[in-house]
This record gives sequence, structure tokens and C-alpha cells, in this order.
Amino acid sequence: MTRKLSIKQSQSIESFLVEDRVFEPCITRSKVGSINSMVEYKALCHEALQNPDEFWSRLARENIVWTKHFTHVLDESNAPFYRWFYDGELNVSANCLDKHIGTVTEKKIAIIFEADDGNVTEITYYDLFIRVCKFANALKAEGIKKNDCVIIYMPIGIESIVAMQACVRIGAIHSVVFAGFSSKALEERIIDTDAVAIITANVQLRGGRELPLKLIVDEAINNGQCKTITLVLVYERTRKHWKRVIGRDKSFLEVLEGVNSACVPISVNAEHPLFILYTSGSTGKPKGVQHASAGYLLWVILTMNWVFDLCLNDIFWCTADIGWITGHSYVTYGPLAVGATQLIFEGIPTFPHAGRFWEMIERHKVSIFYTAPTAIRSLIKEAETKEEVHPKNWNLSTLRILGTVGEPINPEAWIWYYRYIGRESCPIVDTFWQTETGGHIITPLPGITPLVPGSCTLPLPGIDALIVDEFGNELQNGIGGMLVIRRPWPAMIRTIWKDSETFKKCYFPEKLGNNFYLLGDSAVRSSDRGYFRITGRIDDVLNVSGHRLGTMEIESVLVSKTDLVVEAAVVSRPDDIRGETICAFVVLKGSLPTLEEGKVIADELRDWVSKGISPIAKPSICFCENLPKTRSGKIMRRLLRSLAKRESLMQDITTLENPMIFNALVHFF
Ligand code: WTA
Repeated sequence: MTRKLSIKQSQSIESFLVEDRVFEPCITRSKVGSINSMVEYKALCHEALQNPDEFWSRLARENIVWTKHFTHVLDESNAPFYRWFYDGELNVSANCLDKHIGTVTEKKIAIIFEADDGNVTEITYYDLFIRVCKFANALKAEGIKKNDCVIIYMPIGIESIVAMQACVRIGAIHSVVFAGFSSKALEERIIDTDAVAIITANVQLRGGRELPLKLIVDEAINNGQCKTITLVLVYERTRKHWKRVIGRDKSFLEVLEGVNSACVPISVNAEHPLFILYTSGSTGKPKGVQHASAGYLLWVILTMNWVFDLCLNDIFWCTADIGWITGHSYVTYGPLAVGATQLIFEGIPTFPHAGRFWEMIERHKVSIFYTAPTAIRSLIKEAETKEEVHPKNWNLSTLRILGTVGEPINPEAWIWYYRYIGRESCPIVDTFWQTETGGHIITPLPGITPLVPGSCTLPLPGIDALIVDEFGNELQNGIGGMLVIRRPWPAMIRTIWKDSETFKKCYFPEKLGNNFYLLGDSAVRSSDRGYFRITGRIDDVLNVSGHRLGTMEIESVLVSKTDLVVEAAVVSRPDDIRGETICAFVVLKGSLPTLEEGKVIADELRDWVSKGISPIAKPSICFCENLPKTRSGKIMRRLLRSLAKRESLMQDITTLENPMIFNALVHFF
């Protein structure tokens, strides 16, 4: 593969790296009533800017089933605490289930569940509806009521989706805690939410292993002395025994026995909190992101249609866990609200072999596949070293759209994904968004937007995204800065649970004039098309000898050395003379090099970066077997930064997927 990353002269080093490959739309959109051309896309963007009230009002009327129609669209009187459709009423669960009952969709498969061991279970919309009604009645019978907060600490599965939907049906607010989190993390969230109940499973199954969950719940409640919890509901995933606290713990079977299958969904205000989901910010403590019912629902429906071009016969597969926002928007809510058939998967991509994803795409005839760059990169490594797990061994011809989310995708991984998974005939939607935005905000539209590897291209209609300097002045194309959104949109975060001050300070900083929503990402727009490219988090911006460099920029060049490098993470190290120097953690193909080999390869890579960006960007290099990652697959740059700075290494590594890697790195430094 030829490298097409070239250096362009301009003021900002962030914009030096220019990707000049363009992939024209390669599918025809099949959705009636969605966006079908660039002209329609531009017209919608124009309408959203010129007549926002009419634009949002029309879409909310067309896409949501209201129990009481709204008469007001946006209330800005207490900005930035915006309210949308605020005199309307609805129920989100009714919009995901009841609306399909009595239509042809009720017999359609809603969820195909593939278990860790390969067992497959399917459920129709009608059966799912009944399951949710029963579970909602069981929750009510146990005393759970509107506004109560319920923690869901479960692996992905039909039961966890039922639990989320059932909470929403009765107006309870769920807070899903990723089932890989420790008891300490769980305890913090129980305390912060004042949750009254926890829904969990006795164990979870991942990669052929049985991992305890109920035990961790007990630990969290005991350690934190969480007195608000009066009920623990346990789904028995296996027959494995679990210890019962009498009067508090009950099994699913017990509470569901003899329960009525009719449950009228409760009508709630459009602004009723739908859920709280904790996410880490750049500063230590996780923030409880609170979303509102109507605005969030509207956006997941729109993005399912606009970005995934969801059609009647699609088999949609988003590989995210329900513990993350992607699993909320594109597993629990989006696909059900548009009546899609979706696949969900309990296991991990490398068990029993690293071709599992490709095998599952073939087995279930998946047509839309949505995953994270980190998963792609690790599967590339596997495929290139083991012929038998290369995707070419499977029939992937049912695929028509591919997507990525969570991190910038480096152009080389993009090309591999495009070539081997998409067979050069599926557009890749590089969807940029975050927990706080509720759904995609900057992304290509498949079949419409010409694609540029590594670029999330253009904002969706209604998203007024721009790039500004630290004082809020808009920057011209080609110059890197901070990504902000000028106008509110319905799916945006409403507040941080119990911390409205941090909400204001963090997302609407005074320095920017209080009226820009700050994402915390730096970005640059291309000079030719105005395409957005995310260059890193704001806190990942480096300043070396007065030159600004995006860490992602350097990573991207490193991983484009495909004959040597699999993955790289770049962080800064303070330097008395140059301000900062650059430190790169690099995973090589094959095993770790010897000291001598390492020196030679490091020199080669430094030269490569020097040529790819500038001699200023030359990093010092640390080779490692793997990078420390969160369980959602994000590289833990915070840890790497501390390592590079040789700070005190008393780090919280409870959220790491692979703590052993961290220990190995600590040793190295
Ligand atoms: C990063 C995940 C580049 C970004 C949906 C953002 C991305 C953070 C992309 C949010 C993308 C997500 N390209 N960077 N396509 N998607 N990010 O809250 O830094 O877990 O701010 O939401 O991930 O992560 P979160």
C-alpha cells in the first residue's frame, strides 16, 4: 500500500498531515424519507440554521409518538440548562415497543443474541414487548416508582435491554454501570445516584470464563454502606450459586412469577431524565451525564435513519456494550425505536478465535456493522499473523455499511477495514460524538458524503460545529483549534447529576463567551472540503518548542508504518528547554525487540515521523507488548502521561482491561 500522507506548508503543524485519498459514494441509499443526496443534506442544514424551531418541531412531530403534544420547542431562558419540547409528554419505551405492536413489525425479530459459547436466541418485537411489560410490573410490585434511580450492573443480553426498557416504562431512571467495573467504581455510582435498587446477574460469561457479578455488588454495597439500596434483583445467567441477603435479594424468576403482562407505560414530561451515565472527564472523578427523554429519543431515531440508512431488511450490529453510551444509543434505544433487527453479542472478538466477528457477520448475514478502531486494529494484527482468522476466510458479502466510533481511526486501519471487511464496496461512517452529545454529531452519510480516511467529515443537520481559538474566535480551515457547537440541539447533555456548577464550567466555559458547547476535542478542518478531522483531546495537545502538535497526528504517522507498527500512543513529557517533548509507546508486529534491535527500529520510526510531520515531532520511543486500555478499548493516556512524566505511580487502574500491561510498563520506567 502506498503512503499518501503528505506534508503541507501552513501555520499550524496540526494541519501538516494531509490525507489526499478520497472515496466517492459507493452505495445507493435505500431509505425513503431520510436524506438521499448532498443537495438534500445541504437543504436540511440550511433549514436548521435559518428556522431551528420549525426544523426541530417538524422532526419531533414526525418521529416521536407523543401522549401530549408539545407547543414549545426550545426554552433558552435558563441557558445553558436548555429545555426542549418541554410541555410535551411521551414514554420512550412505548416509542421503542408499543408503537410496533399491531403493525407488521410485531412479528419481526427484534434481537438476535449470540452467547459467548455460540448459542443463539432470537426474540420478536411482540415477545420483547411482553417481557418488558412483565418486568416493569415486577419492578412496580417491588416498590420501584417514577424518579427512582436503578443501577443496572449486567452484561449485554436480552435481559439487560429488558431491564433498561422496563425502568423507562415506569419512569424510573436507570444508570448502567459497565459490568467490567470494580466494586469501588460501582460503590461510587450507587452513592452518587442514591439508587434504590440494583439489577445484576449472578455471573457474566466472557471469553469462555465465568466472572462473578453479584459478589461485586455485595462488596460495593457493604464497603460503601449504601443504605439507599433496598432491592437487588439477580438474573441467573448460569446455575452457579449466589449468596442471598434475605429481605434484599431476589431472583428474576421469583419476581416474575405470575406477573401480569399488561403494563400501561407512564407518560412523562419531555425533559424527564431518561438515564444517567457516568463518563470520565479529563479531571479525575467520573461525571454523571444526564439525558432527557424526548430530545435524546429524537436524535437516536434520526441518526439511525440518516447515518445508518436503516432499512426494513437490515441486520444491524453494533458491538458496543450497554455499559457505554454507544450501547445505549445504538443497542437499547436507536435500533428498537426504528424497528430494526439487531444482533448483540455477549463475548469477546478473540474467543474462541480472532475471526469471531467475521464468522458472526457471515452467520447472521449482518448488513450494517459498527465497531471501534481499537477492535479493528487488534484484529488486523491477528489477521496478519494468523492466516486462518483473516476475514477473507468468511463470506462478508451481506455487509453494505461499516461504521467506527470512539477514537480517531488512523488511515491505514481505515483502508484495511474498507478493503478486507467492506470489500471496497461499503462506505465507512467514521462517527464522531461523545456521551454528552447523545448520538452522532459529525459523520459522513453513507452513499452521499465522499470519504476521506481518518476524517469524520461533516456535521449533521442541526449541529452548528466550528473550530475556535482559546478566546472563542472562529478559525479558518487548515488551522487547528478547539471543537465547539454554537447552538443547542435536543440530544445534548442536560446537566451533570447533582453538579450543575461543573456542568456549566466544563462545557460552557466563560473564556469562550459562555455560549459555545465545548467538546474537549481539538480538530482541524481541511482547506479544500471543510472536512473535520479530530486531532486529539484538548489535554492531548502538545506544545513543543512553541509548535502545536496533536498527539493523534503523531500516532497516525507511527501506525502508518505498517510493516513495523501495530498500535501507538503518544503523550507529552515536560521539558525545561522545549516546553514538552514527545514520548511514544509503540506496539510492534511480532515480539518485543532486543535492546540492540530496539535502538535501530526506534531510529527508523523517529525518521519516519520526522518525514511524516516535522523533525519537531520526533518522539522518544518505548516499546511495549500492548497498551493499557479501558474495558471499552480506549487507550489510557492518563496513565501513559504519568509514566512519561515519571510522576508518582499511585494510579487508579481499576478501570483497566489489562492491568498487567501497566505493571510491566511501570517496571520499564
Ligand atoms: C473520542 C463515545 C475521533 C473523542 C461515543 C470524544 C472520537 C470521545 C470519535 C467521547 C471519532 C469518539 N473520531 N474521536 N469518530 N468518536 N471519539 O464519551 O475524543 O466514550 O470526545 O463517547 O471519544 O467518548 P465517549
